[in-house]
Amino acid sequence: MRSKLFSLLALLTFASFVLAACGGAAPQTPAAPTAAAPAAAPTAATSAEAPTAAPAAGTQLAVGIVLPTKDETRWTQDEARFKEALDKAGYQAEILFSEKDSAKEKANVESLITKGIKVLILTPVDGTAAASTAAAARAAGVKVISYDRLIRDTDAVDYYVTFDSLAVGAQQAQYLVDKAGSAKGQPLYIYAGAASDNNAFIFFQGAWSVLQPKIADGTFVIKNSSEAIALQDKAELTRDEQAKIIAQVTTDWAPATAKTLAESNLTTAQAADKGDVFILAPNDDTARAIGDTFHADKDVKSFVITGQDAAPASVQYIIDGKQSMTVFKDVRTLVADSINAAVTLLQDKAPVAKGSYNNGKVDVPAIQSPVISVDKANVKAALFDSGYYQTSDYTGL
Ligand code: BGC
Repeated sequence: MRSKLFSLLALLTFASFVLAACGGAAPQTPAAPTAAAPAAAPTAATSAEAPTAAPAAGTQLAVGIVLPTKDETRWTQDEARFKEALDKAGYQAEILFSEKDSAKEKANVESLITKGIKVLILTPVDGTAAASTAAAARAAGVKVISYDRLIRDTDAVDYYVTFDSLAVGAQQAQYLVDKAGSAKGQPLYIYAGAASDNNAFIFFQGAWSVLQPKIADGTFVIKNSSEAIALQDKAELTRDEQAKIIAQVTTDWAPATAKTLAESNLTTAQAADKGDVFILAPNDDTARAIGDTFHADKDVKSFVITGQDAAPASVQYIIDGKQSMTVFKDVRTLVADSINAAVTLLQDKAPVAKGSYNNGKVDVPAIQSPVISVDKANVKAALFDSGYYQTSDYTGL
């Protein structure tokens, strides 16, 4: 154990030296492996062996973190939780944002490679476009952790840290089903995330698995997607079929796009398509935009609307009765899992995997954490009693 701790500290010191020495200079790039060459098979490590050594305060970890945008509240939460966890562990690591632009993402990664990182934690703006960025990191000898969103169509991904995204969609849909009860013919409006984000497909797949039987038995009637109506008798959709629906109901993860789409759906719909409606909204930022739009329509009497992320503004909406539910994804777990994985990879070991995700090219070893359905009834227990948020930041609790 002692020698393990020692080698970890030595490694971190070395990493810090590399960063100090390489600042701004060209990296000492190891020979680039061929595209087909597998990563050296590291030995397995269990999470029990995850590093617990306290590094010297502010030790620079040879890890770079690249998140997609500050405009979606999810990622500012991740930034804050990364900083909190790194501080607590006594580490420092650079966190960059890509402004929803794959070219900027690539430039971010290249700059971190130049600074000598050995592990990259990347949430891609566009899963497929990030393949070449991941390949560039691999070619420079950098291990790549896909964070929350899967980098697709490349073998240059070493590990995937994620939530149970299938359960996210399933919990959203289950909430609608539970609130709908047994009456038939209830109006359903569906919305999805960005088609460039692999998660949007997984969320949709999870939701469809729960909604489709209730569409087939007449409980729900889809009101805003001819593509979904055309496929409503199919219990399982192919990725291409999902893509057709998503293309029609995408919010692109942007509240403004979500609002415009909801307005256009409500303009097309007749008064009879409104009344007491059910809305599958993919996340909190878009749920608030869509919910506000439905609220403003005089023919909408009530609505049940989903979300995800437990974004602070949506938590207030839930307390105020303006959003029905959210799916809470404890970002602290994801952050801890990825820092542990990064440190394990720095030791040339394989982080513990509990399953894998196929990214279109390879099965990426993964760890996934659970998610919790939260509404007004359990918001206090789930988010405040747990210490995740402070009650003083909210009103009406
Ligand atoms: C994340 C969600 C987030 C969305 C938009 C998805 O990949 O899993 O938590 O709301 O991106 O940023």
